[in-house]
Amino acid sequence: QPTRRIAIDGPAGTGKSTLARTLARRIGGAYLDTGAMYRVATLQVLRAGIDPDDADAVIAATSDLPLEVGTDAGAERILLGAEDVSEEIRTAQVTANVSAVSAVPQVRENMVELQRRLAAGGGTVVLEGRDIGTVVLPDAEVKIYLTASPEVRAQRRTDQDRSAGRDADYDEVLAAVIERDRKDSTRAASPLRPAEDAVVIDTSDLTLEAVLDRLIALAVGTD
Ligand code: C5P
Repeated sequence: QPTRRIAIDGPAGTGKSTLARTLARRIGGAYLDTGAMYRVATLQVLRAGIDPDDADAVIAATSDLPLEVGTDAGAERILLGAEDVSEEIRTAQVTANVSAVSAVPQVRENMVELQRRLAAGGGTVVLEGRDIGTVVLPDAEVKIYLTASPEVRAQRRTDQDRSAGRDADYDEVLAAVIERDRKDSTRAASPLRPAEDAVVIDTSDLTLEAVLDRLIALAVGTD
């Protein structure tokens, strides 16, 4: 099977996770949610009572993380040791602290190494994150950068949280979205930005179905 690595980057609330997962399923590829990996590291830091801004302590607490991420699109489970933390990594507390943890260069190096290993199996693989096209897989066969206005993204996140049974207030979510964008795109190590050769898609006024059609065309090479 030929290697086809599809890098999907962009900020939160663009529909990125749903799209990447659905794309992987539709084209029969593996799927890796790299944000989930940074979230597990953050959960570990919070559980250990470590200040997420204390880089040395964060590195010490996460360097041998017993992290396992499923790559079966739609059924992926995220394990920390034997514990399934797939739900707990989505809490507002983890979300509020993940940018600090993911800004630590040594944490990123460890994660990137693991991500490259998971992507190296051959065949079709969809990796989703912030720095896939720029850092993790700079020679990916397909690079896509999804974006949308902060307001649209905050509304989508609010809806998503509520339908998953989590409390969500639109204004708070919007403030958190803007703050996380700022931190992710201004950090020194691998800031969020489109790769020069990425196809940029603004999803603000597009339905998920319309974006998905575009992604499938790009992924299979007919666009
Ligand atoms: O995509 P998700 O919202 O789960 O990502 C959580 C956080 O993990 C992002 O806000 C970002 O700080 C970090 N992240 C990253 N690099 C990636 C994926 C996620 O820095 N490749």
